[in-house]
Amino acid sequence: MNDTPNLLKKLMEYGESDFYPFHMPGHKRQYHGSFANNFPNPFSIDITEIDGFDNLHHPEGILKESMEWASRVYGSSRTYYLVNGSSSGILSAISGTVSRDGTILMSRNCHKSAFHGVFLNQLRTEYIYPQIIPDFGIQGGLLPEKIEEMLMSHRKIQAVFIVSPTYDGIVSDIKAIADVVHKFRLPLIVDEAHGAHFSFGSKGEFPVSALELGADVVIQSLHKTLPSFTQTAVMHVKEGFVDMGRLDRYVHMYQTSSPSYVLMAGIECCIRYMAGEGLEKMSLFSDKIGEVRKTLSGMEHLRLLTDQEKGMNGIFDMDLSKIIISTKGTGKSGAWLDDKLRKEYHLEMEMCGSDYVTAITTLADTQEGLKRLCKALLHIDSGLSSEEDCEDENRLYQELERMPECRLSIAQAMDEPRRRIAIPDGEGMISAEFVYVYPPGIPIVVPGEILKKESIDLIMKYKELGLAVQGMEDEESRELFVVDEDGISVR
Ligand SMILES: Cc1ncc(COP(=O)(O)O)c(C=O)c1O
Repeated sequence: MNDTPNLLKKLMEYGESDFYPFHMPGHKRQYHGSFANNFPNPFSIDITEIDGFDNLHHPEGILKESMEWASRVYGSSRTYYLVNGSSSGILSAISGTVSRDGTILMSRNCHKSAFHGVFLNQLRTEYIYPQIIPDFGIQGGLLPEKIEEMLMSHRKIQAVFIVSPTYDGIVSDIKAIADVVHKFRLPLIVDEAHGAHFSFGSKGEFPVSALELGADVVIQSLHKTLPSFTQTAVMHVKEGFVDMGRLDRYVHMYQTSSPSYVLMAGIECCIRYMAGEGLEKMSLFSDKIGEVRKTLSGMEHLRLLTDQEKGMNGIFDMDLSKIIISTKGTGKSGAWLDDKLRKEYHLEMEMCGSDYVTAITTLADTQEGLKRLCKALLHIDSGLSSEEDCEDENRLYQELERMPECRLSIAQAMDEPRRRIAIPDGEGMISAEFVYVYPPGIPIVVPGEILKKESIDLIMKYKELGLAVQGMEDEESRELFVVDEDGISVR
């Protein structure tokens, strides 16, 4: 019996350990915090759609009132509670704004759920690429003028979908982008999954939410940066450029027919807290981040991404609660730093890239946790030296911008006859699978695209660095399905 898996036991043991989370969920397991004070044992409130408790898929009672209240708090025309994460809002927004077989303009750094929306609706895609922050090798913002160029030259586009902030906290100029998109009388959908806290930050301390800046659909994961349970999210819609009825239809298709009352009550609780006591906590949190950043500016070899980058590389604003530490120039990889922080300091990061790690901080972080992060990074830094930098990856990443050469739509490529090849042999073939590093889940290769040498090199480099290269059916990520071009007519 001893070898029977026991997830609960494992979770409880982990919860009692000294491992500290610099990852989501945003409550950071701090259930003694005031946001959780009145939350009861989940079993005692876990019900189904019984009399008096309404139905999320046909709300006319308490849930309708609750979502209408939330919509007033946020200033939207309509706010939906999502219990299947932002992913379900993203699927709904894409399905609800672009007709089957239609064309969407999306930023290439979208989360995989956006690509799933494209697949399910058999859409065609045009891409806009984020700028690159050369010194850090991470993505910058999206330029409004590039979006305008794309809309001018691709008149079939029916909606624009972008990510802001990025996983790393980079915010694009949403107001300017919304103005451009609205000139073409199209809806702008913003994946603000990582920016749910923007709605509650004072101006100047945190970026302004896309909802206030003119976006038509804004999707936020409460669970990522606010004290809320995993899976909880909201989708805000503004009337004008969106067919509200059509969008509504899809929200009910992509969400479970048995939404958890524990999660829905958790969403309401989180919003109530944030609109009240949480506002002051956000100011205190902003001060705490300021302290952390001041301390980390003392590092000599590791480098902290700071707001000095604002105004460059398409960066309109930055979420300073994301602590991005670059290992560039130290001869060490992001995976090395991530591993060291975990194994030697018991600090778990949100993610690592090839040469950086990302720590998510939220208002629920304790002073002690933040001090541990600073101390660990300063200590690691003191043992490093500066080395000649290798610019290979930046170059590769920029090369990717010149692709993709797209032969088939995502849906066509995934549904055509296919065969398996070893990844290094794939140059010139049409991919039938996604390839991405997770997190952040942004595809290097999308089905339907011709595999270029640069993308193959990048995949091999990420594998070599020990990053989680995923998306293929092959669990070892050695082989990839490509379209078997014998017998198909390439459109
Ligand atoms: C940019 C972005 N959008 C959307 C999602 C999906 O959010 P959720 O996990 O709430 O479904 C993620 C998840 O990590 C993400 O990084």
